[in-house]
Amino acid sequence: MTRRDFPADFVWGAATASYQVEGAIRQDGRTPSIWDVFCDRPGAIADGSSGQVACDQYHRYRDDIALMAELGVESYRFSIAWPRIQPSPDGKVNRAGLDHYARLCDALLEAGIAPVATLYHWDLPQYLEQAGGWPNRATAERFADYAGVVAQSLGDRIDTWTTLNEPWCVAYLGYAAGEHAPGRRDHPAALAAAHHLNLAHGLAVQAIRGQLGPAARTSITLNLQVLRPATDSPEDLAAVAQLDRIGNQIWLGPLLDGRYDERLFQDTAHVSDWSFVRAGDLAQIHQPLSVLGLNYYSSSTVRHRPGAVPPTWSQARQQPWCGPWPGAETVEFLPPVGPLTAMGWNQDPAGLTELLLATHRRWPQLELMVTENGSAFEDQVAVDGTIHDPERVAYLAAHIEALGQALDAGAPVRGYFAWSLIDNFEWAHGYTKRFGLFGVDYATQARLWKDSARWYQSLIAAGATPD
Ligand code: FCB
Repeated sequence: MTRRDFPADFVWGAATASYQVEGAIRQDGRTPSIWDVFCDRPGAIADGSSGQVACDQYHRYRDDIALMAELGVESYRFSIAWPRIQPSPDGKVNRAGLDHYARLCDALLEAGIAPVATLYHWDLPQYLEQAGGWPNRATAERFADYAGVVAQSLGDRIDTWTTLNEPWCVAYLGYAAGEHAPGRRDHPAALAAAHHLNLAHGLAVQAIRGQLGPAARTSITLNLQVLRPATDSPEDLAAVAQLDRIGNQIWLGPLLDGRYDERLFQDTAHVSDWSFVRAGDLAQIHQPLSVLGLNYYSSSTVRHRPGAVPPTWSQARQQPWCGPWPGAETVEFLPPVGPLTAMGWNQDPAGLTELLLATHRRWPQLELMVTENGSAFEDQVAVDGTIHDPERVAYLAAHIEALGQALDAGAPVRGYFAWSLIDNFEWAHGYTKRFGLFGVDYATQARLWKDSARWYQSLIAAGATPD
């Protein structure tokens, strides 16, 4: 690979999320989120763990910011835990929760690191799940209220607001596949959740701008699916198109064009009548975005499932669970082609270039940011206490090169956030998967330099990929 220069104003960052790193789940008035409850469910988490302690970043944020400063990152993407801010069903604001994030932001700003705050990275207050969760429209309204509260309090400190992280995972892993909290397997509910997440985003953008004015930088982060057909047959191309609608267009359409694709309704007619979409909702959802965040890890190859016929409405109701794709019973995924990461995901950097360029072609004025990209591998700690992770270095280098190719072709990509700053609680995988630039020794909470952190450090210092 040859050396590549990046624009001087390109933002290099690192990302985490509240439940994955904070710990301190009972401190300063925080009440349970759906993840605390889900982790208690036998078998839900691979190693039986939870985010109870995680990386203890709630207490160690100053040390982690010192590490970020040494790494040289210009921005930190973190998330705010809703159950710290509004811990009780009455929605009363918990000052201590807000104060924690104010201190975190102040420490970042002192270190010259721009705070990028995600308002929802999956830790819904459990009391809202008890009231119906995301399939319940009222959750979207509650989210807007919460967004306004945080904007009012932290508005002067936040560089960019991200409303939601990966609504695909929230709706489909949480409510269709049941692999994430709250662990429900109910396809009709997952589609209602998807719409209410879109609505929550639109209402929250309005609430943030209501507090901070129209110039507030707002965004959402999507994990758009890069889908490749197994063959060029019309059936396989149709399978890709269907998954694209349920996986990608379900967000992009309302958020950026103010409409749902009619074919999405047809694909899922046996699952839901979509009566949860009310007049006026699309106008609420379709708010100007300052920047679109994209998370990218891997791609998928799909084909039509030979012999499969779409179930009738009543069959789909009786047996609603067929994985995380409502209405896509006739589509199947091919096994990923290696070398795979420890997650079992393929490595397809070209997919990142294609994703950025396809998005840019469709919305030429829209700024883009890669808000997550990274890889898990089986790390070994060397005798000197560092971690040699050549595979993660290669993954990073290849994906940053792929981003550079999208820049060359004109895509306005403003920044890149490595996932993750540190190893952390990887949802249903518990602590068994390590994505960090820094390792974490969970027994001592020591942060360990990996070669990938050194590589990223020299990239940021030079504004160019290392030779
Ligand atoms: C993304 C999540 C993030 C992390 C990475 C590996 O889907 O946003 O929290 O788990 O995957």
